[in-house]
Amino acid sequence: MRRPILAGNWKMNLGRPAEAADFVRAIRHPLNQIETVDRVLCPPYTALPAVAEALTATAIGVGAQNMHWQDKGAQTGEISPVMLSELCQYVIIGHSERRATASGLESNEAANQKVRAALAHGLTPILCVGENLDQKEGGETDAFVQSQIRQGLAGLTAEQARGCVIAYEPIWAIGTGRAATPADANRLIAMSIRGPISEMFGEPAAQEIRVQYGGSVTPDNIAEFMLMPEIDGALVGGASLKPDFVDLVRRAADTLP
Ligand code: PGA
Repeated sequence: MRRPILAGNWKMNLGRPAEAADFVRAIRHPLNQIETVDRVLCPPYTALPAVAEALTATAIGVGAQNMHWQDKGAQTGEISPVMLSELCQYVIIGHSERRATASGLESNEAANQKVRAALAHGLTPILCVGENLDQKEGGETDAFVQSQIRQGLAGLTAEQARGCVIAYEPIWAIGTGRAATPADANRLIAMSIRGPISEMFGEPAAQEIRVQYGGSVTPDNIAEFMLMPEIDGALVGGASLKPDFVDLVRRAADTLP
């Protein structure tokens, strides 16, 4: 049985240390009590120390939203795995907002270097993959996601692959209120995420790696996703910024046998 993982991606919100700490103090007690799933909060860099501090006596994990792959050097404005490893346990890699917007233009090669650097520094990468609307309408989803997986996880050992988390996030579903259907997400994950992972690293790794769904997940639809056999939790954007993120996580946990 894979242990589900529910992660809140705050994006560029709640980044002032005091507001982030206030929010965390308001949710940490009930969130910490939901012990049957892994819970992770991913604030902006500026709030990482405050959030890590507010979560010290809990089992709730902390994640960053991006990082550079080098340990240090002449990279203005970047944050390295060395800097993160004292503050968090997870790092989101290759979010579509970084892959495809002016602030990112992040390639599969860069995502792969980041995944490898995260693992080398003891951080769990949450590698994001997913197609855009044109690709979906053009019938290219499977080929596109398979290639993101193959390139993003290239060069890893089976042991390292097992320790990664994948977030399947169709871009057209992010922040739109238009989530994928659970059945479609489930099929895609089996065919185009676990499929190539099985070919690359063997079937045990494909069965052990945790795959989240992301894109307009809410307290109202989380249960349907959790009930899908291939889906092991969610990466949640907008709905992680409100106290009812706790309800979302509780509803996810309530679906477990
Ligand atoms: P959303 O974002 O839940 O607001 O759709 C998800 C994400 O981008 O990780």
